[in-house]
Amino acid sequence: MKKILNLLLFAFIIQVSHAGEGMWLPLFLKSLNEAEMQDLGMRLSAEDIYSVNQGSLKDAIVHFGGFCTSELISSQGLLLTNHHCGYGQIQSHTTLENNYLKKGFWAKNKSEELMNEGLTATLINEIVDVTSQALKGVKKGMTVKERQAIIDINLEAIKNELIKKDYQDVAIRPFFNGNQYFAFLTTTYRDIRLVGAPPESIGKFGADTDNWVWPRHTGDFSLFRIYAGPDNLPADPSPENKPYEPKHFLPISLDGVEEDDFTLVFGFPGRTQEYLPSPAVEEIVDVLDPAKIAIRERALNIIDKYMRQDEATRIQYASKFARIANYWKKWIGEVTGLKKTRAVAKKKNFEKEFRGKLPRDSEYQNILPEFEQLYKERAPYAYVRDYYSEVTGRNIELMSVAGIMQRLVSAYENNGAEAYQGFKGRVINYLQGFYKNYNPKIDQEVFAALTEMYSENIDNKYSPTQIQSNTSAPKSYKYLAEDLYTATALADKDKLMAILDMEPEQAIAKLREDEVFKLSSDWKKVYDKEVASPYNALNSQIDSLQRIYMKALMETFPEKRFYPDANSTMRVTYGQVKGYSPTDAVTYGPVTYLDGVMEKYKPGDYEFDVDQKLLDLYDAQDYGKYADKDNGKLPVCFIGTNHTTGGNSGSPAIDANGNLIGLNFDRAWEGTMSDINYDPSICRNIMTDVRYILFVVDKFAGASHLIDEMKIVFPKSKRMPIKNQTVKHKGVFGGKKSKK
Ligand code: ARG
Ligand code: ASP
Repeated sequence: MKKILNLLLFAFIIQVSHAGEGMWLPLFLKSLNEAEMQDLGMRLSAEDIYSVNQGSLKDAIVHFGGFCTSELISSQGLLLTNHHCGYGQIQSHTTLENNYLKKGFWAKNKSEELMNEGLTATLINEIVDVTSQALKGVKKGMTVKERQAIIDINLEAIKNELIKKDYQDVAIRPFFNGNQYFAFLTTTYRDIRLVGAPPESIGKFGADTDNWVWPRHTGDFSLFRIYAGPDNLPADPSPENKPYEPKHFLPISLDGVEEDDFTLVFGFPGRTQEYLPSPAVEEIVDVLDPAKIAIRERALNIIDKYMRQDEATRIQYASKFARIANYWKKWIGEVTGLKKTRAVAKKKNFEKEFRGKLPRDSEYQNILPEFEQLYKERAPYAYVRDYYSEVTGRNIELMSVAGIMQRLVSAYENNGAEAYQGFKGRVINYLQGFYKNYNPKIDQEVFAALTEMYSENIDNKYSPTQIQSNTSAPKSYKYLAEDLYTATALADKDKLMAILDMEPEQAIAKLREDEVFKLSSDWKKVYDKEVASPYNALNSQIDSLQRIYMKALMETFPEKRFYPDANSTMRVTYGQVKGYSPTDAVTYGPVTYLDGVMEKYKPGDYEFDVDQKLLDLYDAQDYGKYADKDNGKLPVCFIGTNHTTGGNSGSPAIDANGNLIGLNFDRAWEGTMSDINYDPSICRNIMTDVRYILFVVDKFAGASHLIDEMKIVFPKSKRMPIKNQTVKHKGVFGGKKSKK
């Protein structure tokens, strides 16, 4: 029986990447993916998606602020991204009188569009394979340091060679754990203005309860615009700037989706770890994820209790709560999915197969036992590392403030008074925002709970004396917290600002006397010495072994198509619109409708309230041209098998003809383990249907001037092939030639 099971599992994994799996470099679509994509129904060529010689889809894909994706949807630089990606900007313009979070925001014309300090939009001009130059002079047997030193010199030379225009940047990134290197020539725009955002009751409908959940009913979008200087090139923010004219923007198809339709998602996925060996996955499932989940759960319970008591606190902590809850929930889904799809067993079988294929004298024979050994040695440090970063870096707010104060002190000690003053300016800026949303009472309770947890779970030798568990005189963390929060200046804005007002020497002396500052610096000292140092040493060995393992895999399975792990560079993923079965006897359809919003509607509830205007439109069934042609309902979201991760938020979902049909914003909970082990049975990305977005802009907000800017097509209904559209419209495929 076991044998049969193993064989079955085995049949699963040796299959060459499943439809849907993979985050592909646009550069290699022709050789690796084009045929499969066309088999799935795509009518574009690889050159239509990525080309350096002519306008292609890639010219419409924009890295938004370096953390999300966005896309150009008009000839005047109009950008579409998620509501949760533009959240910080929308919030920054929000006041009690102009509550854009609650009411939404719509600029009636360009002069009303709002500037956003520091926000950038990056376009990719060209991707270049620089592997051979990057690895020139690198030899087997070099130490990690020696190898990296040579590569660093090489990369510097490549950069200087590649930069041709003064407005361009170049970033060179390792792929396949450092076996390959690619350079990205980019142009970054710096004047990005807010154009429109729906109210939270649409843009964040379902909030944390529905986060990572299918069926979903969120209109998670917002609109921005790129502004450029007179030459259409990047310029500092200025009223003189004019809307950017893109080389390509996405036409929008209102035809809608059906199960099995081809979809392509184009964006900037952040980080995945698809090629980890089994001990690493085992550690994530059994130790690291559960530890982080438990810590966040303690913190979230406390914050939630206060948020429910008081509306002002709810507003203050909404965004922090959402941030902590986001990955707390993701990790739970990840563990569930890894177990459900038996990821560890699959990895182990795959490893058996790999070793079986190696010749007896292969230099790769020892990789897996070495991994086993290294992960075992690293385990205690990895555990404390996650504990430390969750407790001090993510959940006890005062520890983050203390950490910043430490950096300020170091700036003075290492780089002098000028560096101190420069950094201090930024710190004060940050603190102004921080204290606006800070409640020391909540934080004190979180502190007590998490330091207690730390001392219960972590050996004393990794703890500062203040919080060590002491069996002879058991300590109450509650009273420790009370003492510290009463004594410290860091929990009080005025007290801390008064210290920062002093001369540097005096301020530093004051900080050094502070008990919370002391705790934070003692904690860091123990951590750096006892944990970070051995962890980093072992981890660097693991990294270099992973590079060799990756190379070995590619050599051992030459018939398999490998895709590089996500690293915030531009990728194409593709798949099909598809439902799934999350649990026994339960099946989910792939599309949701406005009717589902109404089913979830809870008047007055901050997660599930619905705006009166939307209720009216629903009652009147007034959906205009945005209703589904077959059933007359208004579509809201749909799911597909596209392989996405954090950073893909705001990515366009593109149809077989190159038109925009949806906006990626999330994944289904059961499949969030796609970051470690994609499984086509349950991994689904969640997109807002573009018809819902346009309905909200047009019918709900009355911003029809924005619709007029867009290019709306009905390719299925009109059976118009993509090439015909291009001839008529400049800026859409093949319009303009590249300037190069
Ligand atoms: N889960 C999505 C992502 O990882 C959406 C997060 C924003 N929404 C929220 N309720 N926190 O980014
Ligand atoms: N919600 C994520 C993001 O913001 C996307 C994901 O993790 O699927 O990028």
